[in-house]
Amino acid sequence: MRKIVIAGNWKMNKTVAESVKLAGELVAAAKGIRQVVVAIAPTYLALAKVAEVVQGSNVKLAAQDVHWENQGAFTGKVSADMLKEIGVDYVIIGHSEQRSYFGETDATVNKKVRKVLSLAMTPIICIGETLAERKEGRLESVLTTQVNGAYAGLSADEALSTVIAYEPVWAIGTGVTATDDEAQEAHAFVRSLLAKLYGDSVAQSISIQYGGSMKPENAAGLLAQKDIDGGLIGGAALKADSFLGIITPGEGLSK
Ligand code: PGA
Repeated sequence: MRKIVIAGNWKMNKTVAESVKLAGELVAAAKGIRQVVVAIAPTYLALAKVAEVVQGSNVKLAAQDVHWENQGAFTGKVSADMLKEIGVDYVIIGHSEQRSYFGETDATVNKKVRKVLSLAMTPIICIGETLAERKEGRLESVLTTQVNGAYAGLSADEALSTVIAYEPVWAIGTGVTATDDEAQEAHAFVRSLLAKLYGDSVAQSISIQYGGSMKPENAAGLLAQKDIDGGLIGGAALKADSFLGIITPGEGLSK
């Protein structure tokens, strides 16, 4: 059985006070959620305060990035130990915005994944093709390179402690969502890549989220797909009611 994991990626939105307020609303709203794992990723600045708000609730804490070194002269960066200390459970790694604006590569994704796993947190590994890559027929080769890069050197046990977010870059923040069929097809392909690396039973146990303009209107259709095990949500996670409108359809689904 795979977990359905629905995570809100708040990106560079919300002040500390706004983050605390939204986290509080979500803790209250998510009280009745039993099966879906709910996580929120505020900015680094708000993480420690939001950690206090979600403590003891069924809302998990996620960070939007991490550095792979333990400490030192890395201006602007935050280490995995620092995240662990305040109770972070999930760390988003390799988001397409990190890849396209801030020089993230498959090699740095791999270093971050290893560091996060070594501290018993769960990496959410983001992969996905651009529109140009899809149009040129390179979907499968792009996903293959990203998956092989992210999992390089990881054991099957380590792989079992990861989550993947398949996020077609052309669907992120654009309002354009992959159709249920397009998303399912890509997810099944990603699972087949995991099966090649680790065998079918491990591949069947790793949750693969969909991300890219997921919202209450399309969540039920996407989550019902065989290989879609949750979502990584940007815009629609910034309000408690729309985020909850994505989480609720996940309850009662078994994967
Ligand atoms: P979006 O962002 O839901 O606003 O498209 C998703 C993401 O970037 O994780």
